[in-house]
Amino acid sequence: MTSLTGKTALVTGASRGIGRAIALALAKAGARVLVHFGSAEDAADSVVEAIRAAGGSAEKVAADLRAADGPHELAKRVRALAGDRLDVLVANAGISKAATIEETTVEDFDDLFAVNVRAPYFLVQQLLPMFGDGSSVVLLSSLAARSAVNNLSAYAATKGAIDTLVRHFASALGERGIRVNAIAPGVVETDMSNFAKTDAGRDFTLGMQALKRVAQPDDIAGAAVFLASDLARWVTGDTLRVDGGSKL
Ligand SMILES: NC(=O)c1ccc[n+]([C@@H]2O[C@H](COP(=O)([O-])OP(=O)(O)OC[C@H]3O[C@@H](n4cnc5c(N)ncnc54)[C@H](OP(=O)(O)O)[C@@H]3O)[C@@H](O)[C@H]2O)c1
Repeated sequence: MTSLTGKTALVTGASRGIGRAIALALAKAGARVLVHFGSAEDAADSVVEAIRAAGGSAEKVAADLRAADGPHELAKRVRALAGDRLDVLVANAGISKAATIEETTVEDFDDLFAVNVRAPYFLVQQLLPMFGDGSSVVLLSSLAARSAVNNLSAYAATKGAIDTLVRHFASALGERGIRVNAIAPGVVETDMSNFAKTDAGRDFTLGMQALKRVAQPDDIAGAAVFLASDLARWVTGDTLRVDGGSKL
């Protein structure tokens, strides 16, 4: 029931980190995967090659999701590649910026909301005609949305917005059989959270987790496959913590 054979999935920010791991996992479950990237085209190429080498199906698709029309452009390209039907959207692309309240600039605040909130909002809007009964939308929230960690107030607010959108989207789209959920990782060792590679970052991370290791991108991917699959057919409007028991 986790088989995604015959389904098409779009993963934004699939060139690196958590998105890359989710793209590989969805492909392993049988989905044809559209590997979105912003600037890391070579990295996206290597994800597509890895999926094809394993016998799967994948194509890359570009769009700058900080631009106001980025989601609209991406949706057009996805429609050109996939036709009328999209079964799975994982809106994973995101940016973060650690800064105190005093240090946070208007530009950083606007960039965070543009990429982390505006882009997924309008991507869902623009892809609505391609979703149908059984389609699954997965957004990326964060531990930061519910806990004050690491001087991330502006970033955290973007993820709080995601938790709110999940409920509104799920409520509005349920009558079409479209499910909408979010995944909230804790600290995951990626370019975004490379402080977790330092001794101090590792100690901080393990100190707030029940499970005592630093998460890798692949630790998050299984939850995305679950939410995309029929196993999660009765799950909608929820944010699933996938954080090794952080800040319990
Ligand atoms: N890592 C963590 O500890 C953690 C914890 C909780 C939640 N999250 C969330 O998980 C998601 C993935 O995080 P990650 O750690 O995997 O990040 P990452 O390694 O920094 O990768 C970010 C991805 O987003 C894409 N992206 C960023 N800005 C973009 C833009 N303007 N236009 C298009 N694509 C853009 C990047 O594409 P290009 O490189 O191709 O530009 C890249 O593929 C984010 O939503 C993040 O907030 C992460």
